[in-house]
Amino acid sequence: MGADIRRSTDFKAIHDAFTKYSVIVLRGQEAGPEDHLAFAQRFGPININRFFKPVEGHPEIAMVLKEKNQTAAIGEGWHTDHSYDQEPALGSILHAIEMPPFGGDTLFVSMAAAYEALSTPMGQFLDGLTAVHSSRHVFGAAAMDSEAAKSGRLGNAEAATQDVRHPVVITHPLSGRRGLFVNPVFTTYIEGLSDTESTTILEMLYAHCQQPEFQCRVRWQAGDITMWDNRATWHKAINDYNGFRRLMHRVTVEAVPLS
Ligand code: SIN
Repeated sequence: MGADIRRSTDFKAIHDAFTKYSVIVLRGQEAGPEDHLAFAQRFGPININRFFKPVEGHPEIAMVLKEKNQTAAIGEGWHTDHSYDQEPALGSILHAIEMPPFGGDTLFVSMAAAYEALSTPMGQFLDGLTAVHSSRHVFGAAAMDSEAAKSGRLGNAEAATQDVRHPVVITHPLSGRRGLFVNPVFTTYIEGLSDTESTTILEMLYAHCQQPEFQCRVRWQAGDITMWDNRATWHKAINDYNGFRRLMHRVTVEAVPLS
């Protein structure tokens, strides 16, 4: 739609598209860190990431970086940013600063489409269940021998103390659509089920959600901004560009409690 994140007059159309689609791509933005932050603040207060190395001089902007000599990318597993927070982030706004010559796409899943494709009895079974999400096993001390931590891209392990409970099925605060709210990286178990039941149900849901029918794929060029709704999607970074650098700036916007 040729939108420019710096133009306040474009904001309503961008917000409407975000509400309707949950994932929006704004191509070729000539935006610096201040423009990125100002755009995010139109949606709400910034949720400062505790674990990612920030952009110098901008603690609110997290660096999502893979250097050419590194093998692990950040965000390779299917996840929802900040689902371990009491009020999971409304959205994440990722700006492509430096892209490899090929690859480095990001995949997304629509959690409402995945929920709606479940059978009625399975939907009814999941409705009313609560899941626990945690940051500990991903960003805590146990994860600090990873390449991302050793290279300084992730840190602050002592801040990984979040354990929260969220409904397994939520009503989206903007669209009113029902959608699944569990993810393979941060969800640890479903309350009230045995370990085997919880693991089996979560694995079944994860396999269901990963079907291509529910996915879209963003193929980036430097300058592009993609914004996604963390209450409506999963995402995953494709790590297929070894030997090249990829640098993204990410700003995350605070949200409201889930129901
Ligand atoms: C993220 O998980 O927030 C980053 C996704 C990406 O780098 O494509």
